[in-house]
Amino acid sequence: MADKKFELTDLASGKKSLLPVKSGTIGPDVLDIAAINRDHGVFTHDPGFGFTSACESRITYIDGDAGVLLHRGYPIEQLAEKSSFMEVCYLLLNGELPNRPDLEKFTNDIQHHTMLNESLLRFYNGFHHNAHPMAMVSAVIASMSAFYHDSMDIHNPRNREIFAHRIIAKIPTIAAAAHKHSLGQPFVYPRNDLSYCANMLNMFFAVPCEPYYIDPVAAEALDLLFILHADHEQNASTSTVRLAGSTGANPYAAISAGVAALWGPAHGGANEAVLSMLEQIGTVENIPKYIAMAKDKNSHFRLMGFGHRVYKNFDPRAKIIRGACHKVLESLGQTSNPLFELALSLEELALKDDYFIERKLYPNVDFYSGVIYSALGIPRSMFTVMFAIARTVGWVAHWQEMISDPAMRIGRPRQLYTGSVKRDYVGVEKR
Ligand code: CMC
Repeated sequence: MADKKFELTDLASGKKSLLPVKSGTIGPDVLDIAAINRDHGVFTHDPGFGFTSACESRITYIDGDAGVLLHRGYPIEQLAEKSSFMEVCYLLLNGELPNRPDLEKFTNDIQHHTMLNESLLRFYNGFHHNAHPMAMVSAVIASMSAFYHDSMDIHNPRNREIFAHRIIAKIPTIAAAAHKHSLGQPFVYPRNDLSYCANMLNMFFAVPCEPYYIDPVAAEALDLLFILHADHEQNASTSTVRLAGSTGANPYAAISAGVAALWGPAHGGANEAVLSMLEQIGTVENIPKYIAMAKDKNSHFRLMGFGHRVYKNFDPRAKIIRGACHKVLESLGQTSNPLFELALSLEELALKDDYFIERKLYPNVDFYSGVIYSALGIPRSMFTVMFAIARTVGWVAHWQEMISDPAMRIGRPRQLYTGSVKRDYVGVEKR
């Protein structure tokens, strides 16, 4: 088959260029636009990067119209049902599902990197007790770059692998330390005999004065949520990690930048905002008032947990979480959960409304996740931290993919300048 090309014509001068088309394995083709600047001296302009492919990637595929999400080709529904978070981590990092010995070795490696350097633990004392945990987590991860700087050669594959294992293993410990600091409780050290999620629950909820029972239902629910949040191609935080990492920056610093980007309510911060919104709505009778507010262009209010840049159909992760809510709440003996019931009613009413139908606004991953986190006893301010723990593997996989690509270049977008034209400096006394 002949190579596909697009022809671009400057209608003023009649000058033509041929733009090569690149095809992936699935999904829309992309145009290689280098000739636009070379032949015509213009750039493309795409604020918000809604129509721009910034890199080639083999990790995750989304078809937003069909509601499809694949990790390394495997549908998210199958991974959620049959896999485990450790296995999904291995898959995202290595490209293939592990055989049993590889999975055991990988899990063991993660389990044996969980401790933090004691000096890092002292950082938390510098934060006020009510500091937002995302601020603490981002700062402590950034400070890890000071602990692992000289030993981290980003061009050395083994160094990169050690970094990947360290950050995936330590981020639950970092998060739990932030939680304990907020509560004024002693820090609970990690236990390497426990699974990833059981260890996280133990670090969050155990206290030295009494035994703590790790509920396997809670650990399993957390494992499922972590699978569903593990990666999502070139979202804002992943693109942030790629951009920061493309300068050759220390990868812990790049991951810290990703945590900061995730925190915003348009991204991972939405899970915290959904719970605040549901509490604000309070009762089913109030829902129409809030839907009207979300539609009112003079109000800044949006239905949090609704809408997505890529999904113009159901977010498949939201469907799975909604199904899991029923199961988890029942297993935890919380058969009547007013927040979940309110969320279901809100979804039902919004999806009947023309405003949401026309704009294809459906519940996203953040809409129902907070219901499960709350049921597990995780405080609202920690919801986005949970997202960060799970997404760390995605950030690392993308960073690894980028750094190991010999064609990697620094990320450096251009702009449409609309500021003042050249003018001469005027001394302060003459202004
Ligand atoms: N409530 C009310 N109206 C909305 C909403 C919403 N949640 N989301 C989008 N719209 C409207 C928006 O006002 C615009 O209307 P119009 O065409 O009349 O101007 C139209 O829908 C398109 O919205 P947009 O802002 O251009 O879409 P975007 O792709 O730039 O933004 C989004 C996507 C997720 C930031 C946005 O839908 C939003 O703010 N949602 C609420 C926050 C949220 O739940 N974020 C989590 C995203 S999923 C998980 C993650 O990424 O971490």
